[in-house]
Amino acid sequence: MVRAFLLLFTLTFAGILALVGFRGTKFQNPPIQLVPDMKHQPKFITQHTSRFFADGRADHLPVPGTIPVGYSLSGRYYQTGVNNLSSSSGFTSQSSYQDTGSIGEYYGDGIPLTVTRQVLERGRERYNIYCSVCHDRVGSGNGIAKTFGLVTVASLQDDRLRNQPDGQIFATITHGKNTMGAYGPSISVSDRWAIVAYLRALQTSQSVNAAELRSDLRDQLTTK
Ligand code: HEC
Repeated sequence: MVRAFLLLFTLTFAGILALVGFRGTKFQNPPIQLVPDMKHQPKFITQHTSRFFADGRADHLPVPGTIPVGYSLSGRYYQTGVNNLSSSSGFTSQSSYQDTGSIGEYYGDGIPLTVTRQVLERGRERYNIYCSVCHDRVGSGNGIAKTFGLVTVASLQDDRLRNQPDGQIFATITHGKNTMGAYGPSISVSDRWAIVAYLRALQTSQSVNAAELRSDLRDQLTTK
């Protein structure tokens, strides 16, 4: 009995020592990897060396004169056609209404752009690029992603979302919601507002009262 206990004790002790005893110790040889996973990949790691380049560095500066996507020649964020908001970077950087959609603790309403046809067209283009894969082109939530299993996509034609303040829609685009990811880091502030403006137009297009239509358009409806 005692012998069994001593044996067990020694084995346990040796086991613990083997597991934790050598932590922090430096070895000359790389450790044996039973399951290499994807630790070794043919890629460049920042601040590492590379024999591919003559200077031996993996990191390289962009070719002189390179202009990042979305920037103008002078290095300023470039917003095609959309009237410029004063955000310094083009992305959310302040706590103002235009940057966040909130005024203090509450969502605000109203679009801080002059909504021109150009803005709506920019909004349509951005919406079709960024949102329609899930929300589809009219916003009813039947985008292509649904056929791949994302079944909880909200319909933007719901009364709940029609009545939501513009600032809240802006915040949803910026931060995402539940299963919807955040688009603030990839869509500029002006473009997000352009999308909100276009979304309002989409909602109107699906719910307009026939009496509010211009008479020539209304006639087209009734004759069909
Ligand atoms: C990858 C798919 C996907 C994309 C792309 C996407 N959404 Fe969504 N969106 C969702 C899903 C899923 C929900 C429902 C989230 C939930 O469960 O509340 C949602 C919900 C919403 C809501 C409702 C939020 C609320 O308060 O309930 C709004 C508004 C919205 N999306 C707008 C947009 C706009 C505008 C874009 C484009 C910039 C966009 N979404 C891009 C998947 C997406």
